[in-house]
Amino acid sequence: MSTELDELGYPSPDQSHTYEFYEADARDIPLDDNTVDLVVTSPPYYQKRDYGFDEQIGQETSVDAFVSELVEAMQEWKRVLRPHGSIILNIGDTYERRSLVGVPWKLAEAARDGGWLVRNEIMWIKNGGMPEPAQNRLAQRHENIFHFTPSNEYYYDLHGYSHAFGNGANPGDVWEFGFDRNTGGHLAPFPEELVERCLTMACPPAVCTECGKPLERKLRRTDKLDPERPQAKRAMEKYEQSDLTKEHIRAIQSAGITDAGKAKEIQDGTGRNTDEVQKLADEAKEVLGGYYREFTFAKKETAGWEPQCDCNAGTEPGTVLDPFCGSGTVLDVATRLGFSSRGTDLDPPDDFQMSLEAAAKNK
Ligand SMILES: C[S@@+](CC[C@H](N)C(=O)[O-])C[C@H]1O[C@@H](n2cnc3c(N)ncnc32)[C@H](O)[C@@H]1O
Repeated sequence: MSTELDELGYPSPDQSHTYEFYEADARDIPLDDNTVDLVVTSPPYYQKRDYGFDEQIGQETSVDAFVSELVEAMQEWKRVLRPHGSIILNIGDTYERRSLVGVPWKLAEAARDGGWLVRNEIMWIKNGGMPEPAQNRLAQRHENIFHFTPSNEYYYDLHGYSHAFGNGANPGDVWEFGFDRNTGGHLAPFPEELVERCLTMACPPAVCTECGKPLERKLRRTDKLDPERPQAKRAMEKYEQSDLTKEHIRAIQSAGITDAGKAKEIQDGTGRNTDEVQKLADEAKEVLGGYYREFTFAKKETAGWEPQCDCNAGTEPGTVLDPFCGSGTVLDVATRLGFSSRGTDLDPPDDFQMSLEAAAKNK
């Protein structure tokens, strides 16, 4: 993670984080309705590993049966998710009779049929991996990660994510990292960075203790540009050498790139009407020429975190659930970053308590 969470301007919840592990089936989660903000999980893959439990998922005799078990589990996770919650899961493909089956997209299609929105398909590019014996095809070096949401009204912090894992601009849907060296003895562990990315992107750092609604980051535009882009640097120089004011920059941002402009609204509460905004934008364009458009990408900064309710009841950290939590990577990372976490698995990890204590100490 390139940035510590403190630098993301996170609010400090009134209550501290908690964690709980349950020996339970992923299709029957022992949690109340509306208590989870994000599910992050790595389900068993189709016909890959026999975990030795009668109730296990993954050993079904057809892909369709496997996919329908996962979709049934997702319906159960929807019950425990708050309305702004979502699911991020990774899923690998497999070969059957020498042909790729297309498991990830069969799952995505079934989820869509079940009412989920498939908001992203992220390509997880793995640096390195196990050698494969096949001599007439390339080794598999990627997996799909899907972001499923029950509606379009889900919690999402693109600003925080982009600052932690990019240079502030939307970093795109390709994630490139290998496995962590210390896998805690588990055969299919999650890399910690994968979990950090999911939490930063879609788990609210604070929610209302009464109604569970998240605090949302409010942004304001600055007049600062990205100095690493040569055009932006030149645009700043032109602006600083001119008589243009911050009002001109705000007018550019209101009017937008095209001459038709987006300046349909009164600019910024200063009482200026659209004609005045357009006039300022035109003046700026005259001076800046082609560099004008650079200011429509000016950086934003956090103005604060706003509650979405009137409860005034205090806040607690957002909660992540991993229903197939294995060695507990999601719970470890959540604890280290100050989120609450819940995990279920048919097979409780031996060193679970120890690893959580270590993660809490490292926080
Ligand atoms: C791919 S592993 C998860 C690895 C985990 N992400 C980690 O970091 O260690 C899948 C896990 O699902 C569990 N599992 C299989 N069927 C299950 C079911 N029906 N309910 C709950 N857990 C199940 C297995 O015991 C295994 O630990």
